[in-house]
Parts: sequence; structure tokens; C-alpha cells
Amino acid sequence: EIYGKGALMSLVPGVTTDPRLLEEQAKKSLGIRAFNYVAGGAGEKATMDSNRLAFRQWKLIPRMMRNTPEQDVSVELFGQKYDNPLIMAPVGVQGIFHEDKETGLAEVCEEVGVPYTLSTASTSSIEEVATANKDGKRWYQLYWPRDNDVTLSLLKRAKENGFSVLVVTLDTWSLAWRPADLDNAYVPFIKGVGNQVGFSDPVFRAKFEKESGSTIEEDIVGASRAWIGDIFAGNPHSWEDLAFLRKNWDGPLVLKGIQHVEDAKLAVEAGCDGIVVSNHGGRQVDGAIGSLDVLPEIVDAVGDKITVLFDSGIRTGSDVIKALCLGAKAVLVGRPVIYGLSIQGRDGARQVLKGLLADLWQNMGLSGIRRVADCNRDQMRKVQYGG
Ligand code: FNR
Repeated sequence: EIYGKGALMSLVPGVTTDPRLLEEQAKKSLGIRAFNYVAGGAGEKATMDSNRLAFRQWKLIPRMMRNTPEQDVSVELFGQKYDNPLIMAPVGVQGIFHEDKETGLAEVCEEVGVPYTLSTASTSSIEEVATANKDGKRWYQLYWPRDNDVTLSLLKRAKENGFSVLVVTLDTWSLAWRPADLDNAYVPFIKGVGNQVGFSDPVFRAKFEKESGSTIEEDIVGASRAWIGDIFAGNPHSWEDLAFLRKNWDGPLVLKGIQHVEDAKLAVEAGCDGIVVSNHGGRQVDGAIGSLDVLPEIVDAVGDKITVLFDSGIRTGSDVIKALCLGAKAVLVGRPVIYGLSIQGRDGARQVLKGLLADLWQNMGLSGIRRVADCNRDQMRKVQYGG
């Protein structure tokens, strides 16, 4: 379809299929603050660089005449069949990128057969996203509040609204040192943006009203501070506390932000069903190892006990294949889809997702890999070209 028409000519004008140009295009559509928020990373972005460099060092070794017409990219995760090994990563405050926001993207994800993961820091509520993604697969990402009653209320709403997998993000108990955001004094949450999950929560509302004597609508800034204080301030949870989530979430429980083998083993001990090997797209710790570089050792340690997912740096179909070959069962993608959403709302996000899936299909076929289960390390080699 794209070769016939040319993506820039007629499919969705203005949304490139070249992952290297997407960011530049999005920059033209976004104000500087929103752009810096999505494109930025911790410190001097060394971790973001490592994420990409790690992908560049692994190379595929294609095989020939392997009957690729029988290709199938479906996967099974937590006992459910998924059409693709791709998952939309949780990304907060999508309303600052386009008015289509979380609900629009959740709708597109259903259309293209990709699960949508809703962030706790979103501009749409749990209920709105469930309506938009009615027959789709949806996961819920938890920034784990310090208040157990608020946590239980969020879990209950997620469950009642058909979110099947709980993804608990561990690496963001504080916002990181992100120079581009700091220079622009960019904290969308403070202005009431990105707090819809909290503001629409009956337990949080009642708690805020009781403690402050005001309604959320009367004191948006105070309510925002209270909400952020609950989910981002300090590092209140320990590995033992996971028993509370395990007890109160009847479904797959996945920990996001794992980079160390020992933490992966602790996730197994805590009875989790999966982990996301992720460094939050290089947004949290500066100078950290590329996420792909820790994937093999983590898969070797726990891959036969829990489901290992991966994110941070996925930009092309080839990247997806590399992560699968190193043992991930599926991957999450963040920024590229948000760039598409920023450029042209639903249409832009759809084009990026469909492009990534088509690229994956094509590159997998040309590499001689028929099924995701056939992805393995024999199809790869780590090399270091000079320059
Ligand atoms: C994120 N990410 C994120 N993760 C999470 O668990 N909850 C969240 O609310 C957010 N918010 C968020 C906002 C923005 C603007 C970005 C770019 C990322 C991290 C996200 O889920 C994922 O780990 C990374 O985006 C993956 O890296 P790539 O694909 O962007 O390189």
C-alpha cells in the first residue's frame, strides 16, 4: 500500500515512514515544552544514546528459502493470544500532544491489533479509555500510590473496566533530572493536566476534600500536588510490599523498569507473572546501560519462569526482531507512536503503528523467520564496526 501510493503523498500526508525523521516532524507540530517532554531524557541523554547503540551492535544474519509465506507474528502472553508482539507503552499526559489524546490512541490500538497500556498519569480517565478501546486489549500501568485505599480503588476500576494486565512501574518514584524540562519549568501535572485518573477517582477525591476542605475543582493546584505527592514523592515501597498488590490483583502482574538480574529474580520470588526490561526510554537514570544489553542475561536467569517483555529504544521492525531473538516475548514502543499522534492525531498514530508492524512483517520474512517462536540468538551476532 505504501510503496504504491507513497506515504508522504497520499496515505497520511505529513507523517513520514522514516523513524529518523519522525522526531523532526513532531517538533514542528508541538510547542517547545511538549516537544521537550516527549523527546527529552535524563541528564545528557547518555542512556537514550546507549539504548540505540545497543541495537546497532546486534546484527541479524538472514536465512534463505524458509517458506516465509506461512509467516505468523502472533504471540501468547499470560495465556492469551495477541496478534502482534507489539504493545503500546504507557505514556502519560497524551492530551498535551494532541486533542485525540489517550482515547484516540486507545481506539487506534484496537484497530491495528496492539494492546493499549494506560498510564496512571493520563489526561483521560480509566472509564473513558475503556469505552474508546471497547473490544481491544488493554493493560493498566500503575504508579503505585503510597495510600493503600487509593491503590485499591485504582485496581478495582481497572479490573471493572476490562484492563487485563497490571503493569507496575518501579523506576519513577521521582521525576528525573531532565534538563530540557527543567529549563522550561515544565510540570504539566501541577496544572491539573495528566491527573485525570486521580481526579476521577472517588477515593482520592474524598480524601482530598476531607484533608483540604476544598473540592478538586476549587483547588486544582493543591489537588495536583496531593496526587503527585501520593504517587511520585519518595520511594515508599519495598519488595515485601508486592504481596499487597499480588493479593489484590487477580490477573497477570508485571513489573516495569527492571535492569538488574537480581531484581528480575526478586520479581520471580514475589510471584509476579512478568517483567518489562526497561530503562523508561532513558528518561530516568542518566549514564545507564542500554536496555537491550541487559536483556540476554535477564532472559537466561528468569526467562523460563516469567514472561520477559522489553522496551527502550525500539524504532524499527528490525529492532523488534532483535529483542525477540534475545528472548523477549513481546516489546513495548513509546515515542515513535507519540510523535505520530502529535503530528496528526489518530491518523498519525495509526500510520506509525501500521508502518512499524509492516516493517516487522517484511523484515522478519526477509530474514527467513516464520514465527516469533523461531526468533533465537543463532540469527544474530554482536559486532562492533568502527566509526
Ligand atoms: C513515558 N514512559 C512512561 N512509563 C510509565 O510507566 N508511565 C508513564 O506515565 C510514562 N510516561 C512517559 C511519557 C513520555 C513522554 C515518554 C516518552 C515515556 C516510558 C514508556 O512507557 C517507555 O518505557 C519508553 O517510552 C520506551 O522507550 P521508547 O520506545 O520511547 O524509546
